[in-house]
Amino acid sequence: MKIKVYPTSALQSKAAAQVIADQIRTKPDTVVCLATGDSPFGTYRELVRMVRDSHIDCSRLRVFGLDEWVGIPPDNTGSCHYYLHENFIRPLAIGNDRVYLFDGLSKDLSGECSRMTEAIRHAGGIDIMIVGIGMNGHIGFNEPGVDVNLWAHAIELDEITKTVGQKYFQSATPLSKGITQGFQQVFAARTLMMLAHGKKKASIIRQTAEAPVGIAIPSTLLRQHKNSLIMLDEEAASELAPSLRN
Ligand code: F6R
Repeated sequence: MKIKVYPTSALQSKAAAQVIADQIRTKPDTVVCLATGDSPFGTYRELVRMVRDSHIDCSRLRVFGLDEWVGIPPDNTGSCHYYLHENFIRPLAIGNDRVYLFDGLSKDLSGECSRMTEAIRHAGGIDIMIVGIGMNGHIGFNEPGVDVNLWAHAIELDEITKTVGQKYFQSATPLSKGITQGFQQVFAARTLMMLAHGKKKASIIRQTAEAPVGIAIPSTLLRQHKNSLIMLDEEAASELAPSLRN
């Protein structure tokens, strides 16, 4: 696990977007798997700017969603579907035939998960997975206690996730389950980029780097990933031991 710290979240976003842009330039048919939420927001905005300014060809890019709230329709502004269309898919003009998002309204969640896992396999696996980190250390919706042997799966959401998740919605929204790529997809991703900024993430970032590796804090498992890159701003890194920063 490589940790990189930037003075501000703006610089962190720029650096992360540069990594993704370089990946797309090197392999135009890159397979990306994307988180939503506050953590990657600036990175996606920077990437859109870089793609426009440098005329990077995204016509062969393939986009997979990392997760979705079960029961939330795609036109709800708090859904992962809405966010990815708004901040990545539409600005980069990715064709619908290259986009694979979880259907949070599916009546057959296990079929939906098998469809997703198969689509990723068919695409040749994920080249770069971009994730944030929950206040409880979740990655995607892989909540504390998750079975790491799972591929895509539906899962009961942790109480912390249900509470914190309200920030994405315009009005109070009951949340109970999520559907997510599993740790098998996380481990299989050729590059895993985790983004975090702000003081409120400092404690969970320290625990990610220092706590015993295990499912109690799922983010600690990223230490076992063969190519994981953690990109932080100074505030999120503020509790890290100096020896862990570079
Ligand atoms: C969202 C996702 C979640 C978030 C995490 C952090 O697609 O996978 O795991 O990355 O909850 O959320 P933010 O970035 O809003 O702090």
